Amino acid sequence: MAKLDILRYPDPQLQTVAKPVQKIDESIHTLVADMLETMYDANGIGLAATQVNVHQRVVVMDVSENRNEPMVLINPTITWMSPERSKGEEGCLSVPGIYDGVERATSITVTAQDADGKHQEIQAQGLLAVCIQHELDHLMGKVFVEYLSPLKRGRIKTKLLKALRDGE
Ligand code: NI
Repeated sequence: MAKLDILRYPDPQLQTVAKPVQKIDESIHTLVADMLETMYDANGIGLAATQVNVHQRVVVMDVSENRNEPMVLINPTITWMSPERSKGEEGCLSVPGIYDGVERATSITVTAQDADGKHQEIQAQGLLAVCIQHELDHLMGKVFVEYLSPLKRGRIKTKLLKALRDGE
């Protein structure tokens, strides 16, 4: 396994739309293992392949308290979203140090393949529902700061570009 570099906002590669995985082969298994290692190392609860500059529909997550329940979603699709929405604070490994409120559907249904190619349907609420929506946005080239006001987004961009220049 290898730790991968995580792209930082506003890196334009984060806007790339991911392509469906055609075949779950050894390269996908390696990608999934590396993404899990990268996510755990960074103390994240989710990571989309887009964030490690691989533009295929692959997401890894772990929202468990003990960080021992990895989830792998390949070619995920949200098939249902509750009309009820709620606003919660979100952060992102590609936007380090920034947290802000985003409104999302409170419950969703998602279909996806697991690392063995098996089809699964997941009913998610709470943190898991938020995490899935956040990660699927990444696969569409969208970072959570896009939901914030242009003013806030501008400030975040400036702050992160400055941090990059300062070598943080
Ligand atoms: Ni993120």
